[in-house]
Amino acid sequence: MQKESVTDNRGQRTHTCGELNKTNEGKTVVLSGWVAKRRDHGGLIFIDLRDRYGITQLVFDPGTSGSHESKKNAESIRSEYVISVSGTVRARPEEMVNPKISTGEIEVEVKELHLLSSAITPPFVIDENTDAGEALRLKYRYLDLRRPNIQKNLILRHEVYQAVRTYLNDNKFLEIETPILFKSTPEGARDYLVPSRVNPGTFYALVQSPQIMKQLLMVAGFDRYFQIARCFRDEDLRADRQPEFSQIDIELSFIDQEGMFQIIEGLTKDVFAKVKEMDITIPFPRMTYADAMEIYGVDKPDTRFDLKILSANEIFRSSEFKAFRSVLDTGGSVRGLKVSSSQVKDFSFSRKEFDELTKYVQQFGAKGLAWMKVEMDQTKNQLDLNSPIAKFLSDEEKKNIISQWGLAHGDIVLLVADTSYDISCASLGNLRNHLAKKLNLVDESLFNFLWVTDFPLLQYDHDSKRYVACHHPFTSPAKEHEDDLKKGNNLDKINAAAYDLVLNGFEIAGGSLRIFRQDIQESMFQALGFTKDEVAKKFGFFVDALKYGTPPHGGIAFGVDRLVMLLAGTDAIREVMAFPKTQKATCLMSECPSTVAPEQLAELSLSILKKQQEGSNT
Ligand code: AMO
Ligand code: AMP
Repeated sequence: MQKESVTDNRGQRTHTCGELNKTNEGKTVVLSGWVAKRRDHGGLIFIDLRDRYGITQLVFDPGTSGSHESKKNAESIRSEYVISVSGTVRARPEEMVNPKISTGEIEVEVKELHLLSSAITPPFVIDENTDAGEALRLKYRYLDLRRPNIQKNLILRHEVYQAVRTYLNDNKFLEIETPILFKSTPEGARDYLVPSRVNPGTFYALVQSPQIMKQLLMVAGFDRYFQIARCFRDEDLRADRQPEFSQIDIELSFIDQEGMFQIIEGLTKDVFAKVKEMDITIPFPRMTYADAMEIYGVDKPDTRFDLKILSANEIFRSSEFKAFRSVLDTGGSVRGLKVSSSQVKDFSFSRKEFDELTKYVQQFGAKGLAWMKVEMDQTKNQLDLNSPIAKFLSDEEKKNIISQWGLAHGDIVLLVADTSYDISCASLGNLRNHLAKKLNLVDESLFNFLWVTDFPLLQYDHDSKRYVACHHPFTSPAKEHEDDLKKGNNLDKINAAAYDLVLNGFEIAGGSLRIFRQDIQESMFQALGFTKDEVAKKFGFFVDALKYGTPPHGGIAFGVDRLVMLLAGTDAIREVMAFPKTQKATCLMSECPSTVAPEQLAELSLSILKKQQEGSNT
């Protein structure tokens, strides 16, 4: 905890603007801050004075108090001027008490008012609820950062950092900084490159993560390392992705997966207790990657609501409906979601709505979305399916889906048939999240953690016609699959000793146990199709280091921005970063990236290629 007060009686304030209350009545105080609001009231001037601690109401009576200069200042001040006042704390009249703010019982009767700095009119009102668009807020980020809600987020972030440092220090972790200018590390995203002036034609890469360096620290014997590390990745941005972000980066020696989970669960529990005063339950539930994909369609399931993916493969195995049958005959799947009538509540699914949902899943490659409304046929006193595909289905198929899926009147069924399991998962997994928002299925008060385990080690890349590492090439295979990796058998069925920590549908941390034996590392490179030369060039120094006595080790990294975003209850990572970039990786405030002077380029032995033709990439 930080000290309650910043008073030192020597500076330009004795108290902060969030500190005074009835116990200070009668006290002479000095406050400094920004003018949030100024109101003239029948001769009296009321000022809301703001700093990061809160707001204090000042009252100035130009008729009776203050020097000539103070009176002049009080008349002239406007919003966002920086002032310093001295005066006396007094209780507000009963009817003027504002219970919403900590200083709501008092006001300061100003004797002297000094203008420290004036301000031009800000481009938007600096208030918790601003209607300014994000572009304007990012251009004037230093003003946006004055808004109490953003300040609260950054204070929360600071508290997370302190809690993390205390916990890890208490558990014998050492905080060690590693370079940002380094060699490109195989993290999977595109690198930001930095040209070397001293060595023309060569480049550093800004680290995508300290992965290689933290492993080298294990080789060096620092058995418990952490760092709050800056990472840089040139990738397509989303609401929860920035080109420059921070990780709580952790690595340990002589640890297995269980030990790792224990440490991370302890850390997470501690952070939540300290910054949220929440007692979260550990150990966290676990789910394999395969189950996550089968049941939730994504590798980061949001478990705060039901709506699991169900299979209809057996129901439609010999269907006459071509779209289903042809997919099943070629090894594909027919899977879907059952939205129960209680989840549908008062939402009415119209044809237009179904058309929109169809368009939604098509973004993920689905060919179509078959829908069914389950309705009670009053004349027959039995359930029936209202659906454009009902006419293609046999009575048997209808009966089976009704009984096997436990359908009831008012339920909605949405089905995707696809030969590709990936498309089936992506369509239904995203549709599930989309529907949860639309139908208000999420209990926002929950924090649902989940370990996702047993990720695949390798994935076949059809473009380059070779296997690529799902995590990175130093991730260890699961113990029981070591042999397969060595023999090059069943490469796409090998599990990795890799794990992600998911919170409310966001991947907040990811890590793995690492390969520490040379023979396994060599098999891994072989599986990835790297030649000896390629290995030597890409990470020869690292492979060499592993030959000098490497302890078994593993680690994990939290995306701090995402963690704080969830703790702050927002869904935009930019709201918890001081100076974030836009979706196009630009800074609207400083207008970077920007061109540089030809001399700067010359110094770096660089020249810019002209666009050769409209539509060409270079
Ligand atoms: P990984 O690439 O999974 O692992 O990253 C770890 C965590 O960092 C966060 N993250 C991001 N946050 C914001 N913007 C981004 N562009 C971004 N990319 C990733 C995520 C993710 O879970 N070196 C390994 C860790 C290890 O194996 O120990 C690594 O970087 O929350
Ligand atoms: P069609 O006969 O192709 O016009 O399709 C009839 C219905 O089946 C439409 O409602 C389509 O959305 C649906 N449909 C077609 N292909 C698929 C598919 N692969 N998965 C799910 N539904 C589909």
